[in-house]
Amino acid sequence: MKKIAIVTGANRGLGLATSEALAQRGFKVLMTMRNPDKEQKTLNALKMKNLDVVPMKLDVSQEKSINDFVEHVRKEYGFVDVLINNAGILIDKEDGGNQSIFKTKSSTIQKTFAVNTLGPFLLTQKIFPLMKQEGYGRIVNVSSGMAQLSHSQSASAAYRLSKTALNMVTNLFASEVEGSDICVNSVSPGWVRTDMGGPNADRTVEQGIKGIVWAATLPKGGPNGKFFRDQEAIEW
Ligand SMILES: NC(=O)c1ccc[n+]([C@@H]2O[C@H](COP(=O)([O-])OP(=O)(O)OC[C@H]3O[C@@H](n4cnc5c(N)ncnc54)[C@H](OP(=O)(O)O)[C@@H]3O)[C@@H](O)[C@H]2O)c1
Repeated sequence: MKKIAIVTGANRGLGLATSEALAQRGFKVLMTMRNPDKEQKTLNALKMKNLDVVPMKLDVSQEKSINDFVEHVRKEYGFVDVLINNAGILIDKEDGGNQSIFKTKSSTIQKTFAVNTLGPFLLTQKIFPLMKQEGYGRIVNVSSGMAQLSHSQSASAAYRLSKTALNMVTNLFASEVEGSDICVNSVSPGWVRTDMGGPNADRTVEQGIKGIVWAATLPKGGPNGKFFRDQEAIEW
């Protein structure tokens, strides 16, 4: 039977490329996005390549959307092998708090946490039973070097806070699955040329997704509860 992978924020950037890479490796990929109806061109291009991808509606900032999605997956497929918590936002600049935590609004932190931290937490919690019953799972939380406490700076405070908290979400789930064939890890893709990373970033999308795909396909006994960049463990 085909392995099933879920990718959030799969309509563009790293999520789209990760979906394509996993489908090329033989996964059925449930490509989740906020507006599948608007993404027909992107989805058709993947179908033309004979890739097994299924578009599904999911807004990770809405608990009801997560519940509806998980229920649909449970009824339709009954199991999940891989979850990539990729969807993310970086809105400090547009919300006026790019330069300093003194200018960061609580609303920016709340909005950012809803997508970058609470979404992955809830989705992992609710998808986990569909992995546990099979005794197998790979969960990848797409984090950022900006989460590292060892490289802390004040700029983009909401984003940094949300990704540092996401790393703790990784840690907490990982500690509960220790000893099973379920691995939960954080991955930093580096600075990548996407809408978020911008045109000056030093990595291509292909370089950015390499570590994500690697963590999604770890062999039995692979690492659990770590933070990786370029397949090397890095400091939290
Ligand atoms: N690019 C970098 O340099 C870099 C560096 C470190 C970490 N990252 C992380 O990598 C991940 C992917 O980033 P990217 O560079 O590919 O960014 P991107 O091109 O801006 O794509 C972000 C994706 O997240 C989706 N998204 C936003 N809010 C959502 C919500 N409420 N529900 C579901 N999906 C939502 C977007 O969907 P819509 O099209 O609907 O908005 C889009 O698909 C993020 O977690 C980001 O923090 C990126």
